[in-house]
Amino acid sequence: MQLAQFTRHLKPSETLAISAKAKALRAQGRDVIDFSVGEPDFNTPDNVIQAAEHAMAEGFTKYTQASGLPALRQAIADKLQRENGLHYEPDQIIVSCGAKHALYNLAMVLVDPGDEVIIPGPYWVTYPTQVEMAGGTPVIIPTTAAEGFKITGEVLRRYLAPATKGIILNSPCNPTGAVYTPDELQDLADVLCNTDLYVITDEIYEHMVYDGLRQVSIATLSPELKERCIVINGLSKSYSMTGWRLGFCAGPADVIAACGHLQSQSTSNPTAFAQIAAIEALTGPQDSVHAMAAAFVERRDFVVARLNAIDGISCPMPQGAFYTFPNINALFGRRANGRTLSNSADVIDYLLDTAGVAAVPGEAFGADDHMRLSYAASMEALRTGLDRLDQAVQQLH
Ligand SMILES: Cc1ncc(COP(=O)(O)O)c(C=O)c1O
Repeated sequence: MQLAQFTRHLKPSETLAISAKAKALRAQGRDVIDFSVGEPDFNTPDNVIQAAEHAMAEGFTKYTQASGLPALRQAIADKLQRENGLHYEPDQIIVSCGAKHALYNLAMVLVDPGDEVIIPGPYWVTYPTQVEMAGGTPVIIPTTAAEGFKITGEVLRRYLAPATKGIILNSPCNPTGAVYTPDELQDLADVLCNTDLYVITDEIYEHMVYDGLRQVSIATLSPELKERCIVINGLSKSYSMTGWRLGFCAGPADVIAACGHLQSQSTSNPTAFAQIAAIEALTGPQDSVHAMAAAFVERRDFVVARLNAIDGISCPMPQGAFYTFPNINALFGRRANGRTLSNSADVIDYLLDTAGVAAVPGEAFGADDHMRLSYAASMEALRTGLDRLDQAVQQLH
């Protein structure tokens, strides 16, 4: 008996795997500080929880339209107009079980075997795997810290090929925290306007942008390009609702309709009462969104300063999301307890074993010289974790 062909490319999410390892160690009684997670440490706002409780009491416990409640799709259309300057009709919007699910639907409805999809690297772990699951080939454009981990129009042009079907942009970026300025996006839009590529723009960290920068959607830069853009977003990060599994995408009506058909044959609707809670999140008070962003800036500045003070680690200042992405390649070749660290996975294992600190190896994001350390943790945890990390690195020679 053989598994289906596509499972050859199917690997578990490496970020979730590290989190699972950290949780397992904790269950064994180890004191582990987990910087591997991709979720805010804040609670879901009370008004959102209350809206879900009321929704359950009022009977929102049954199937809804497979593509999401009309009222939620309208709330998303209003949000996209209000916050992003993007006009979409509700039939150009689909609600899915998280942005990851929305991206999966898109890979399935847009990518044929043999198609290439351009992904700037370092990239979020899931993008290349989803393209491969659809039979496509991810084409990675590598970037460096010196380039701000961003591609330019000129670089993008070099990667365009007859087989290119689309590109996945992610600003603010997980794992690098890079944020494209409007001018940088315009430079990419100028190149993309002369193609027929689909542009998937993952804007899930849109509210976590710092230093006076502003998140801009590439879909706003050209009406012609907007016809081929699919905007991805969700409730997980902005409203600390990772467990609720609520994401959405907006784009051309035919693409959204195809996603709807796929969803109606696979998952059906996202959880009914979570959809009602999502309406409250999008239309209710937004103070918690701003409070989270303010807390993240303070933590980012602290973590970056601490990391840069450690011999062998150099950390650029991320301008968005809630991750640092330090370069750790100066640690490769160093030894401790009879073991030599040769790559990012070795460093992560060493830190987990020696310091009880969990982070994600850069290898998972296509950048083995780095590690990803989330600062979605309390200041106390960050202080203790960085003290331990510092001591563990000092033990290397
Ligand atoms: C860049 C990016 N896109 C999408 C997602 C998926 O979010 P969701 O929880 O809505 O599936 C994540 C989660 O880590 C992410 O980092």
